Amino acid sequence: MTEKKDREQWGSRIGLILAVAGNAVGLGNFLRFPVQAAQNGGGAFMIPYFIFFLILGIPLMWIEWGIGRHGGKFGHGSAPGMFERLWKNPAAKYLGTLGLFISLVIMIYYTYIESWTLGFSFFSITKMYFGENTFDSMRDFLYSYQGRSVGDFSSILTSYVFLLITFSINFWVLYKGISKGIEKLAKIAMPLLFIFATILAIRVLTLGTPDPSQPDNSVLNGFAFIWNPNFSLLSNPSVWLAAAGQIFFTLSVGMGTIHAYASYLKPKDDIALSALTTSATNEFAEVVLGGSIAIPAAVAFFGVAVTTQIAMGGAFDLGFVSMPLIFRQIPFGEFFGFIWFLLLFFAGITSSVAMGQPVIAFLEDELGMSRKKAVALLAVVVFVAVQFVVFFLKYGFLDEMDYWAGTFGLVVFAFIETVLFMWVFDSEKAWEEMNSGGDIKIPRIFYYIMKYVTPLVLITVMGWWFVNDAIPTLLLTKAKPENIPYIWGARGLMVLICIGLFFLVKTAWKRKEVEQII
Ligand code: ALA
Repeated sequence: MTEKKDREQWGSRIGLILAVAGNAVGLGNFLRFPVQAAQNGGGAFMIPYFIFFLILGIPLMWIEWGIGRHGGKFGHGSAPGMFERLWKNPAAKYLGTLGLFISLVIMIYYTYIESWTLGFSFFSITKMYFGENTFDSMRDFLYSYQGRSVGDFSSILTSYVFLLITFSINFWVLYKGISKGIEKLAKIAMPLLFIFATILAIRVLTLGTPDPSQPDNSVLNGFAFIWNPNFSLLSNPSVWLAAAGQIFFTLSVGMGTIHAYASYLKPKDDIALSALTTSATNEFAEVVLGGSIAIPAAVAFFGVAVTTQIAMGGAFDLGFVSMPLIFRQIPFGEFFGFIWFLLLFFAGITSSVAMGQPVIAFLEDELGMSRKKAVALLAVVVFVAVQFVVFFLKYGFLDEMDYWAGTFGLVVFAFIETVLFMWVFDSEKAWEEMNSGGDIKIPRIFYYIMKYVTPLVLITVMGWWFVNDAIPTLLLTKAKPENIPYIWGARGLMVLICIGLFFLVKTAWKRKEVEQII
């Protein structure tokens, strides 16, 4: 088949790196990571975390950039077409459907969470939550905003307005395209994100001991809390699973989004160094900046015992309850609150647009739709689906989607792509593809890691996950009885999305057959 040359392209190298880094750096870096580290042994968590970064994260980055650029040469910007280039089998395109499914499902709920950050940046600058002075009342503020209960907000309207704004910005950027939309956004949002995060990290570092009558509540103890290794937890497989899950989520691997971005590279553009640079940027944002803000600040203000409870309560309690409680107590808290939530918003939007791109690329490349039509169709689907997430939030609708698409699905997809690229396509050809045009040569040891270690680890993680986590989740053994119908509803919606995507893939390939005959 001839190489296609009429697809969009990135405007500049720096723009591409910022866009892929923006894809990776997200809410996961600033909310999910500190909670995971605190829950899973602090400094000890970093051992499996860095091991998985080396044997899963970085190799998968190279693999996804490699598959993406290779597919792009033949005019494919999404996994169904890319997988078919790796494996000449009718099943390949259907396996690739998973890459559309995961990114689409995550986009649906992620955009809603992202909209809360925009709402809270507004509430910070206008000091709207500054009257809430306890954990319970701040949590009520969040819950009533989310429509889980009636309180400061009598309805979900405010939340809905911020969702509409967030939704519109996302689709506007997607409509503008790769270099005029996504790249431009990354060039503005990423530097601001790093500036805001640095300002906040410095502010936290200089907190000292906010209440001298409580000398244990200090920022130093905050860092000790997050980084002191509790090695006894390393024998617990769930700590290893949590570390693997965090690596996937934070780097955005196993989603189908990196492939889509890489497909807009030129055939001889560098992959080797760019993939490494974006991974390193993500880790800097996560470990250095993400680890220095929310948890150390919580310990300085509330002490270790309360922070442990906050961390156990999850990422949203940390970001949307304990941080606002701190902002209302410090000078210029409205400003710091504003940049904290805006930083989260920038982190979120540079990731959520990436989640929209695979489906748009699919509709354009495989079904010949115009960008405008593709964006409109995706917008309708996301808009309809997000209604369920908004209105059934309290029944675990979002959590269910996050579990299957945002946790389990990533590992399954990563396993499939690794086997297809390193085994079916041929490992030497894959190696050549990843190194071609490279500004560095990927160390040969990674060849063996990608071929043997990565798939083996993935299958082990999948097996563990399936038995320990997925089976009980599948059977709803731990679900609240009142949530069960909604959880089934979430599953039904995901099945519908999956069927719809299969149908589109089938139609696209039928259409190509007809075109070839003509
Ligand atoms: N990688 C993105 C994040 O960390 C999805 O939020």
